[in-house]
Formats: sequence, structure tokens, C-alpha cells
Amino acid sequence: MAKYLIASFPWSSDVGNDVANALGLIHVTLETKQFPDGESYIRYPIDITTYDGLILIQRAYPEQNNRLIQVMLAMHAAHDLGIKSIHVVLPYLPYSRQDRRFRDGEPVSLQTILSLLSSLGASTIITVDIHKPEAFRINNAQCINIEPFKLYADRLRGISNAVLLSPDIGSLWRVEKVSEYLGAPFSYLEKFRDRVTGEVTMKPKELDVAGKEVFIIDDIIATGGTIIEATKILKSLGVTRVHAIATHCLLLNMADSRMFEAGVSSITCSNTIPTRYTEVNVNQLIINVIRELIK
Ligand code: R5P
Repeated sequence: MAKYLIASFPWSSDVGNDVANALGLIHVTLETKQFPDGESYIRYPIDITTYDGLILIQRAYPEQNNRLIQVMLAMHAAHDLGIKSIHVVLPYLPYSRQDRRFRDGEPVSLQTILSLLSSLGASTIITVDIHKPEAFRINNAQCINIEPFKLYADRLRGISNAVLLSPDIGSLWRVEKVSEYLGAPFSYLEKFRDRVTGEVTMKPKELDVAGKEVFIIDDIIATGGTIIEATKILKSLGVTRVHAIATHCLLLNMADSRMFEAGVSSITCSNTIPTRYTEVNVNQLIINVIRELIK
């Protein structure tokens, strides 16, 4: 049986520890530092040449550019040192929203990142709740998207007047999946994003939500613009309370304060990016995937 090592970056070591403890594997935390000019340095603190395989875990946000370079350095070193199989776990995959060329001349950045990881020897790239699962594929590497939707349904069980809402049609499949577990009604809004300014607008819509508790479910809260616009519409429709649930909470420019000001009652996030709103732990889902991969 292949001998696997778990290596995580310092801000991801809770994930590394959980995976290692559950699967009975050795876990090391990579050493990292930044050179005075800003370049990254990483080092494995043990001799890794006796291992056949590596599970490399990186919370790649914040500082996503630097943290992706760290992953690439660690992968290349492992490959150089004779590791045959590398499974990379990036609970939040940066650049995943640029999954197509929206305007002429743009890169498909998700493909750029996946190509780099694959060319550096990734056998598997694992993430959680990728923006668009159908865009998560690359030649020569297996891409695994972990869905946290049952965990969201479990949190909402017992709320009798809950309505699930996708802030746009692109995320409708998420609320459908939560609803499959929960049995709650669901709907969606129509969102438009200005591809130059990033500004979000939404079309008012008749929804049967008056007197209900609405849970907006999305993959990412970045500027909060999507949730704020949705909340304005919901409030005008007489919703009792609006809650925001998202897997990855970037919460840029005090998005949380602005969301609360707009009338959001609660924010729930997963631990792919730890914040004060982290209430859903996806580590067990990561463990389940890795257990299957290395058996
Ligand atoms: C986009 O389609 C995503 O699913 C999210 O709705 C979006 O990334 C959220 O961004 P923001 O919080 O900046 O509106």
C-alpha cells in the first residue's frame, strides 16, 4: 500500500491535523517565510523521500497569489524529491469565478490555475463548492468538488417557515440540492453584473415570501453586493428575516457590516476561509474524499 504524508501550510494545519488523525497518517506543517523582496520560501521540515504520495493542504485565501505560489513551490519540490502522487486540497480555489472569457482578451483564469497545478504533477485537485462545477476540469488531473449542501440543510432543519433563495439563476442548483435534503420551498432572483464595474443589479420579482424566513444560499460572499441587493428586494416583499449562507466568505470592505445595515439578520460561512461567521466545518467531507483516494 502506498505511503502517504499530509503536509499543510501553517494557517491550514487544523485541516491537516483532522485529516491525519482520521486516517492515521503523519502530518507536517510546512515552513514558510517571505524574502525581503517579497518572494516566497517553503520547506518540508522532514525527509519526504521515503513517501510515495503527498496530500498537500492549503487555505489559499487571503493572500491568494502568494499562497498559490507556495503550493506550486511545494509541489515542485515534492515531485523533484521523488513523490509519485500528489493530491492538492484547496478548500477555496482562487480565480474560480473567472471560469470563462467574459470579455474579449481575458484569460480563463480558472484554467490557468488548473493547468499550472496539473503540469506540476497534481494527480488530484480537490476543492469545496466550486463556483461552476462543469468548468472544474483539466487534462491529466482528477478534479473533485466537495458539496457542503447537506451540512446547510442540517442547520436549517426544524425552521417551519424557511424559504431557500438563490441570488441568481447560476446558483439555483445549490438551493435545489439543499431543498432535496430539507424539503423546503426554493426560488431564485435574476441578477446582472456589470463586467466592467462589477456592480450588481437585480430585477424585482414576485415571490411568495411575505412573513417567511428567507435563507439566501450562495458559494461566495465577496463585496456583499449580491446579498445586499437580494435583501433589498426581499424586504420590500415583506420577508420576516433574511439570512445569508455562503461557503466561502471573503467579506471585502466590511461587507458584513454593510449586509447587516441592509437588513441581513445572520451570516453563516464554512471554514474554507475562517471568519467570525464560520459555523460549518467541511473537514469531515475532505477526510471522506481523501480516504477514498488513498485506499
Ligand atoms: C457569483 O455569481 C457568485 O455566485 C456570487 O454571487 C458572487 O461572487 C458574490 O460576490 P459579491 O459578494 O461581490 O456580490
